Amino acid sequence: MTPPPWQKYAGKAEGWSDRAYAEPRAYLAHRADLVRTLGPPLLPGDTVLDLACGDGGLAAFLREQRYIGVDASAEMVAAGRARGREIVDADLNAYAPPGPVEATTIFRAIYYAADRRALLERIAGYTTRKVVFDLNPRQYRLADVRADLEAAGLDRLTTHPFFVPQTRAPLPGLALLERSGPVARAILRFRFTLICAAWSSTSRR
Ligand SMILES: C[S@@+](CC[C@H](N)C(=O)[O-])C[C@H]1O[C@@H](n2cnc3c(N)ncnc32)[C@H](O)[C@@H]1O
Repeated sequence: MTPPPWQKYAGKAEGWSDRAYAEPRAYLAHRADLVRTLGPPLLPGDTVLDLACGDGGLAAFLREQRYIGVDASAEMVAAGRARGREIVDADLNAYAPPGPVEATTIFRAIYYAADRRALLERIAGYTTRKVVFDLNPRQYRLADVRADLEAAGLDRLTTHPFFVPQTRAPLPGLALLERSGPVARAILRFRFTLICAAWSSTSRR
């Protein structure tokens, strides 16, 4: 039998956020900043549901929001809880929180959607303000993702390049190029990811 995709993370759970990123603070703080500001802004007290959260390292940079992580790896869940984070042990494809949340995020894990459109429909059912996720534009066509978002009722989409390297120290000034338009688009042809924020034009905010 094929092992579930999260099984490969069992041995990597201990210290995940500290070891998966060359500069975890720079990487996760910038990600959290975009979670708050890209698309409809988050407010203090809003809840962020972070699907496939790993050890919930993002929580430390969203201190004004309530952070709830979800991960299917028992080892990741244990590592996150050991760091004092609220983590649910569940498969993102089947999980729904007990009540609505303002934002749902998925980082480095959109490819774990068994059916991306169905997952986005599920998320849209319990998310009142926006969904935020990252995407490798060389792996996925933005037009296909937009079609899935629209089918889920998330008819508004904004994207922002994310130029903090994962496994190397950030280059000075590189993040400034995120706002450079054509230069940023050229860089994205070779490296880095896009952060996407999607929401419904008719949703309650
Ligand atoms: C590359 S890590 C990303 C972790 C974190 N989001 C980050 O950016 O550092 C992928 C995570 O997805 C989790 N995962 C994989 N499939 C999943 C599923 N179906 N449901 C929930 N979590 C899943 C793994 O256990 C792992 O923690």
